[in-house]
Amino acid sequence: MKKRRKRALFITFEGPDGAGKTTHAKRLKHDLEAEGYKVLLTREPGGSHFGERVRDILLDRKTGKISPITELLLYESIRAHHVETVIKPSIESGTIVISDRFTDASIAYQGYGRGIPIEIVKTLNSIATSGLVPDVTILIDIKPEVALRGIAKRVQDVIGNSKKNRKGLDRIESAGNAFHHRVRQAYLEMSKDSSGRILCIHRQNKFEETYALIINELSRKFDFFRKVFNN
Ligand SMILES: Nc1ncnc2c1ncn2[C@@H]1O[C@H](COP(=O)(O)OP(=O)(O)OP(=O)(O)O)[C@@H](O)[C@H]1O
Ligand SMILES: [Mg+2]
Repeated sequence: MKKRRKRALFITFEGPDGAGKTTHAKRLKHDLEAEGYKVLLTREPGGSHFGERVRDILLDRKTGKISPITELLLYESIRAHHVETVIKPSIESGTIVISDRFTDASIAYQGYGRGIPIEIVKTLNSIATSGLVPDVTILIDIKPEVALRGIAKRVQDVIGNSKKNRKGLDRIESAGNAFHHRVRQAYLEMSKDSSGRILCIHRQNKFEETYALIINELSRKFDFFRKVFNN
């Protein structure tokens, strides 16, 4: 029988493309499950059948250029469905929910990245989530050049393309350097927010070192993690 918490935690991972969100989120899920907790790992865009289908459209380069507000509304509609049908019911049943990206990504990408006024993004975020805010957010910070180089290399490895180009990148990844710099700066600014919700972790060269920093920061913030990880 898996352990459930009376009020389950809602944890999100954020950061630029290729920062290491998915890798670290999977490991955290694995370690919490090893301690007997029920954990759901989900993601945005996506997280539901509907959301995954719209994700394909959003990330497919064949979709071409769509206006920033069109893009934002698609992300928010995915989010509304995700919160309503997946995240809230899971939290209420005591499952720890980890989401690979959530509301902060819209502020960073559609707000600072695409130029939509931040207040509009925040308003739509709060409508889509009906006010649900993560208990804690792990921001993995990395220079966009480093992260995108990693993605480009993996793409080349997969499709055997030796040219250093952006061909294999998805619609968002291929948005250009200035865009990715704005996204990174936005995340860094957001992590200075007085609420202390966003924990900024600078990615280290080794996975284990980065993961240890994440566990330390979580343990400093929550007794729960201190006890679970004996930290
Ligand atoms: N701390 C680390 N040190 C070295 N490599 C890492 C570290 N963290 C992740 N990686 C590697 O970086 C790559 C990108 O990681 P990952 O796919 O988790 O990033 P992501 O933020 O989820 O990317 P995306 O935005 O594309 O979803 C992977 O190959 C992963 O193994
Ligand atoms: Mg990922």
